[in-house]
Amino acid sequence: MRRRLLAFAVLVACSVFTLAIARSSFSDPTPQRVGSAACKECHDKQYQQFAGSAHGRAEQDAGRVAGDPGCESCHGPGSLHVQADGDENSPGFKTIKRYAKLSAQEANATCTGCHKAGDQFYWQHSAHARKNVSCVSCHNIHDSKDPGHAKLLSQPTTTAVCITCHKANHFALGKTAHMPVAEGEMTCADCHSPHGSAGPKQIRALTVNELCLTCHADKRGPFLWEHAPVRENCLNCHEAHGSNNDRALAAKRPYLCQRCHVATRHPSTMYDLPDLANSSSNRSLNRSCTNCHPQLHGSNHPSGKYFTR
Ligand code: HEC
Ligand code: HEC
Ligand code: HEC
Ligand code: HEC
Ligand code: HEC
Ligand code: HEC
Ligand code: HEC
Ligand code: HEC
Ligand code: HEC
Ligand code: HEC
Repeated sequence: MRRRLLAFAVLVACSVFTLAIARSSFSDPTPQRVGSAACKECHDKQYQQFAGSAHGRAEQDAGRVAGDPGCESCHGPGSLHVQADGDENSPGFKTIKRYAKLSAQEANATCTGCHKAGDQFYWQHSAHARKNVSCVSCHNIHDSKDPGHAKLLSQPTTTAVCITCHKANHFALGKTAHMPVAEGEMTCADCHSPHGSAGPKQIRALTVNELCLTCHADKRGPFLWEHAPVRENCLNCHEAHGSNNDRALAAKRPYLCQRCHVATRHPSTMYDLPDLANSSSNRSLNRSCTNCHPQLHGSNHPSGKYFTR
């Protein structure tokens, strides 16, 4: 009998305790959504910018996304912050999500909650995500600098965004031979996805050659006579980001070729002149290799085995 009484007493104590917890959480309210219009009064600058951006347009056109791309989709429910009425010492004030206080992972999780298709599908596996680069390292939601705020960029152009961090690539843009990136006809993002990709080094193709051949289709082949290093990788001979050799070559000719081909039958320095007995020796200087072997990317001529035609 005593034991039963004890058990009953414990039971009563437990339920009282549970009730107490439940009550206390009712009296400590969680913030609720109040809608973007409630923020306008105090944050008109952010509101106006938001209204004209893709996020603002998506909110007006509610059918476009599941959920609501308003202020609170990024800053969290705002009722307590609004009630604080601008008093920074009120406990509710700080319930608003502040990006300056978030880790890269927390900030990114907000964005990838909606942006998980397209290029952003690859985000988790990108070098950027691994090295704690954040969506808001490159995107400036309220003060973007790109024309029309189309991509909400932190700089006026895509390339300008990249070279704020990638200094070596910045310097490469100034080399004498390069693709027209510095001129603005191409951007880093023509070749790389800032958000990750299925290929190496975030390139927009599965292999380097597939990337290059999307624009340089004349080098695609198939050729009757293939040149093995061209098939393998364009970067056997070219620097993607520019070089001080013409045609963005990785080395000067003829040494470019002689990294692989022995000079025996085509010697290339002044000191090789005694080899004049060899018909081509005295001509194997400077661009000579490609003067006689112009089809080095591959030839379709029946007698093009040596890429001479
Ligand atoms: C009654 C005025 C008022 C309203 C309404 C209001 N805020 Fe604020 N909020 C402030 C003040 C004041 C600050 C501090 C100064 C500042 O950063 O502009 C602030 C700061 C912020 C900050 C930055 C906090 C920080 O420390 O960096 C965010 C984010 C923010 N508010 C979001 C919102 C959102 C979203 C809404 C609508 C749900 C909203 N606010 C509604 C007054 C208000
Ligand atoms: C797409 C996500 C997103 C939406 C939507 C959004 N914000 Fe922000 N907000 C941010 C980020 C990120 C920052 C940090 C600064 C930055 O990167 O621009 C920020 C910063 C702020 C700040 C701090 C001041 C500043 O500029 O740094 C305020 C205030 C603010 N937001 C208010 C609002 C209001 C009001 C709305 C709706 C009209 C809104 N935000 C909509 C992401 C968002
Ligand atoms: C509630 C869902 C949602 C959240 C959260 C969100 N976005 Fe968006 N975002 C959208 C929608 C919807 C669009 C409009 C897409 C369109 O116009 O096709 C958009 C557009 C954009 C655009 C412009 C792209 C374009 O092609 O017009 C960028 C850049 C962007 N978001 C970045 C971000 C970043 C960075 C964050 C995190 C700080 C973020 N978004 C958070 C839903 C969201
Ligand atoms: C390293 C810089 C960088 C980072 C980090 C980054 N972006 Fe972008 N994002 C860009 C650039 C640059 C563009 C515009 C590309 C172009 O020129 O077409 C862009 C474009 C976009 C677009 C427009 C559609 C598209 O894919 O072109 C969306 C949406 C977007 N980013 C969302 C995000 C989200 C979400 C994150 C974080 C998960 C993120 N971005 C991280 C640089 C970045
Ligand atoms: C906020 C700084 C920052 C910005 C801005 C930035 N990056 Fe990066 N990027 C990094 C870091 C950090 C790494 C990782 C470097 C490492 O692992 O050594 C990286 C790595 C890369 C890589 C190598 C990927 C790999 O798999 O190794 C590529 C390609 C790249 N970034 C392209 C871009 C492009 C294109 C842009 C502009 C749209 C850009 N980055 C803007 C910081 C940045
Ligand atoms: C014509 C295409 C192309 C353009 C334009 C381009 N890249 Fe690259 N990038 C490549 C290729 C190809 C690689 C090497 C991939 C590999 O090694 O497999 C690469 C590699 C990289 C790497 C990895 C480190 C390295 O050098 O190997 C970074 C970082 C990078 N690029 C950043 C940039 C930035 C920043 C820009 C703009 C200033 C840019 N790239 C423009 C094609 C390009
Ligand atoms: C997005 C399109 C695009 C991609 C991808 C691309 N290129 Fe180019 N490339 C160009 C353009 C545009 C030019 C300038 C053509 C001109 O001036 O006639 C060019 C020029 C060149 C030149 C001549 C440079 C000079 O100084 O004369 C070489 C070599 C070259 N590309 C190699 C490559 C290689 C290797 C790749 C792959 C890593 C590649 N390209 C990927 C667009 C591209
Ligand atoms: C074996 C070395 C080698 C390889 C590999 C190579 N190239 Fe070249 N490429 C050259 C040389 C040498 C020139 C200069 C030819 C000249 O001046 O007549 C050149 C010139 C070019 C040019 C500019 C002139 C033109 O013919 O349009 C482009 C574009 C180009 N290469 C693209 C590529 C692409 C794309 C690949 C990969 C599919 C590739 N190259 C692989 C050696 C190479
Ligand atoms: C990365 C190494 C490499 C570079 C650089 C290179 N080649 Fe080749 N080349 C090869 C290989 C491998 C073969 C195929 C050899 C074979 O099939 O026996 C080849 C074949 C050839 C052939 C046909 C020879 C034959 O016996 O079928 C010629 C001609 C040739 N290369 C010229 C050049 C010229 C000119 C250059 C410089 C513009 C050059 N190569 C740069 C690796 C290279
Ligand atoms: C004066 C024209 C001429 C010049 C310059 C020239 N070649 Fe040749 N090369 C030929 C001819 C023609 C052949 C065809 C084979 C033959 O008839 O001996 C050939 C054959 C080759 C072969 C295949 C046979 C072998 O010897 O392995 C290679 C590889 C080659 N050349 C590479 C080069 C390289 C590398 C250079 C630059 C250092 C170069 N050639 C400069 C005309 C030239």
